[in-house]
Amino acid sequence: MSVLLTGGAGFIGSHTAVVLIESGYDVVVLDNFSNSKPSVIGRIEQITGKPCPCEEADLSDGPLVDAVFRRHDFDAVVHFAGFKAVGESVEKPREYYENNLIGTLRLIEAMTRRGVKRMIFSSSATVYRADNPVPYYEDFPLGATNPYGWTKVMIERILCDVCAADPGWGAALLRYFNPIGAHPSGRIGEDPNGIPNNLLPYVSKVAGGELPLLHIFGDDYDTPDGTGVRDYIHVMDLARGHLLALGYMRDRRGAFPFNLGTGKGYSVREVVAAFEKVCGRALPVRVDPRRPGDLPSVYANADRARKELGFTARLGLDEMCADAWRWQKRREEADGATAE
Ligand SMILES: NC(=O)c1ccc[n+]([C@@H]2O[C@H](COP(=O)([O-])OP(=O)(O)OC[C@H]3O[C@@H](n4cnc5c(N)ncnc54)[C@H](O)[C@@H]3O)[C@@H](O)[C@H]2O)c1
Repeated sequence: MSVLLTGGAGFIGSHTAVVLIESGYDVVVLDNFSNSKPSVIGRIEQITGKPCPCEEADLSDGPLVDAVFRRHDFDAVVHFAGFKAVGESVEKPREYYENNLIGTLRLIEAMTRRGVKRMIFSSSATVYRADNPVPYYEDFPLGATNPYGWTKVMIERILCDVCAADPGWGAALLRYFNPIGAHPSGRIGEDPNGIPNNLLPYVSKVAGGELPLLHIFGDDYDTPDGTGVRDYIHVMDLARGHLLALGYMRDRRGAFPFNLGTGKGYSVREVVAAFEKVCGRALPVRVDPRRPGDLPSVYANADRARKELGFTARLGLDEMCADAWRWQKRREEADGATAE
C-alpha cells in the first residue's frame, strides 16, 4: 500500500514515516521544508534501512501537487503539512489561513482527480471550545480561540463536507493532544525553528544549556500543584495511531474524529521533575503570570480510539522525557559535526 505523507519531514510526520515503512507501507514524503530539514529523510532511511522517496513541493502549488500524484499511485494520504504555532497565527492570520486551508484544498483537488479518497488528517485538541469540561469527548462542541485552531476546525468541516458529497471518500480526523518525545534511536525528534513554543522542546533546550531559564506561566490554577495540566503523548505512540487509523479507514467511508491522547494529564511541574530525573540536574525555572488564553487543564477521553482503532498509549512520561533528552544530546552532536 502506497501512502503520501504531506509534511512528512516534520516532527510527527517523520516518526510516522518510520512506523509505516517498518510496517510494510511504501511511503512518499511531500514537504517544502518550511519547518524541517531535508536531512531528516536520510535519517528515516537510516533507521528503517529502506528508501523513503521525497518530493520537495509546496502544497498550495496545484500543478506541482498534481504532478506528484501523476508520478505515484497512492492509496491514501496522511496530511500533516501546515503551520502550527498558535502565537504566530495570531500575528500572521492570513499566512495561516492561506497555508493551511489553500494547501488542503489543493491536496483534496489533486486526490479527487486521481481517485485517491482516503485521508488521515492531523487535527488537534485545539478544535474543542475552551468552555468544554475535561476530559474532552469527540462529540463536544467545536470552536477555537486563535487562527491556527480555526484552520483545524475549518479543515475538519471541509473534510466532513467532502465525505458527505462523495460517498467514496473517507477521512480520519485525528485530534492530537500534546505530542512529545522522540525516536528511541535519538536520530529524529522535534527540531523547531527559533525559540520553541511548546513546553518539552523548551525544557530540553534549557537542560541542554541553549536557553537560560524555563518560564512557568501561572502556578495558581485550580490544579493539584497550581500549574497547567496537559495530556502528553509519546510521538511514537502517536505515530502508531496513524498506522491503526490507516487500517481502520481501508474499508470505511465518511469522516471519523478520534482523540489521540493518553487520557491522563501531567502538570508543568511534573514534566519538569521527570525531565530533571533523566538529565540528572535541577533546571532553572521562574514562575511568571498566566498567559492570556491558556487553559488550566486539557486532557482527552481516549475511549473511542481504544474501542474503534485498538489504540492505547504504551509509553509514559519517563520514556517521553528520556527520548526527548537523548534526541537533544544527539542533535547537538550532529549540529556540531555537520552543517545542515
Ligand atoms: N506538534 C504538535 O504539538 C501538534 C499538536 C496538534 C496538531 N498538530 C498538527 O500536526 C501536524 C504536524 O505537526 P508537527 O509538529 O509535525 O509540525 P512540523 O512543523 O514539524 O511539521 C509540519 C511539516 O509540514 C511542512 N509544511 C508546512 N507547510 C507546507 C506546505 N504548504 N507545503 C508542504 N509542506 C509544508 C513543514 O515543512 C514541516 O515539515 C500539523 O498539521 C500540526 O498542526 C501538531
